[in-house]
Amino acid sequence: METLILYGKPVAERVRDRLKQRIRELEQRGIRPGLAVVLVGENPASKVYVRSKARSCGELGILSETFRLPEHTEQKALNALVEKLNADSRFHGVLVQLPLPQQIDEKQIIHRILPLKDVDGFHPVNIGRLVLGEETYLPCTPAGIMEMLSYYRIPVSGKHVVIVGRSNIVGKPMANLMYQKSEGANATVTICHTGTDNMKQYTRQADILIVAAGVPEMITAEMVKEGATVIDVGVNRVPDPGRKKGYRLAGDVAFDTVKEKTAAITPVPGGVGLMTIAMLMQNTVKAAEDHV
Ligand code: GUN
Repeated sequence: METLILYGKPVAERVRDRLKQRIRELEQRGIRPGLAVVLVGENPASKVYVRSKARSCGELGILSETFRLPEHTEQKALNALVEKLNADSRFHGVLVQLPLPQQIDEKQIIHRILPLKDVDGFHPVNIGRLVLGEETYLPCTPAGIMEMLSYYRIPVSGKHVVIVGRSNIVGKPMANLMYQKSEGANATVTICHTGTDNMKQYTRQADILIVAAGVPEMITAEMVKEGATVIDVGVNRVPDPGRKKGYRLAGDVAFDTVKEKTAAITPVPGGVGLMTIAMLMQNTVKAAEDHV
C-alpha cells in the first residue's frame, strides 16, 4: 500500500495565506496584531521554538517582542512581567514558553495571563470553553492536527481516535476536540497514558493514532492497525555522535517500520511541528480581531 506522508508545510502555508487577508483587513482598521513571547532560562529546545515564533510573526507582519529572563528568575518577577504585558495594548497575545524553571509555579503563571490574551489556549477559562464546545483559543498543537486531518481529507467522524499521552498541552485538549459534535470531529476517543496496561490492545484499534508521549520511537509496527493514520507529535533529541549537533530529532513513532503499515503518517521533523506555530499566528490574529 502506498503511504501518504502528511507534510505540515502545505497545511501551514494554507493557514498563513488565509491569515494574510485577515491581517490586511485589520491594517485597514488601523490594528497591527501583536504577540509578546516570554522565555525564562536557557532550555535549548525552547530557545529554538521562541526564535521560530518571532520569525513567523515577522513574515506575516505581526508585531512580536521576545522578553528573555534569566534561569534564576523568581516567581514575583515573572508575575509582574505577565501583569505588565496583560496591560500593554500593543500585545493582543501573551505567551510564556514552557517548561519553566523548577522554582516557578507554572500553574500560577498560566492562571495569570488574561484569558483574552491567552493565545496558547492554556488558561482554565479557555480549556473550560473548549470542553463545553464554545468558541475559544484552541491549544495550538491539537488545533494544528485538526487542520492537518481536514487538509488531507482524512475522515474523523465516527472513527476511533486513540491518543497516547495526557498532557495539558496536547493529550487532554486533543481528546476534547476530537469527541466534540462538530465538523471535522465527532470521533470516539480513547486516551492511553503511563498507567495503561497492555497499551498495544488499544493502539491496535485506532483508525487515527495520535502520539504525544515524549518517548522516542515507542510506537512500533506491531502496535498499529493496518491502514491506520498515525500522527506523531514527538520531538525528541536523541544522541547521535555522527551528527554535527551531536543529536538527531526522533518522533514518538518508529517511522520507517510503522510507515509500511499505515495509510498516512506524519514525518518528524516536517509534520505536526510546523502546524503549532501556524496556529499560534492564527490565535494571535483572532485575538487582535476580538480586541475591543
Ligand atoms: N512548550 C511546548 N509546547 C508549547 C506551546 O505550545 N506553548 C508554550 N507556551 N510552551 C510550549
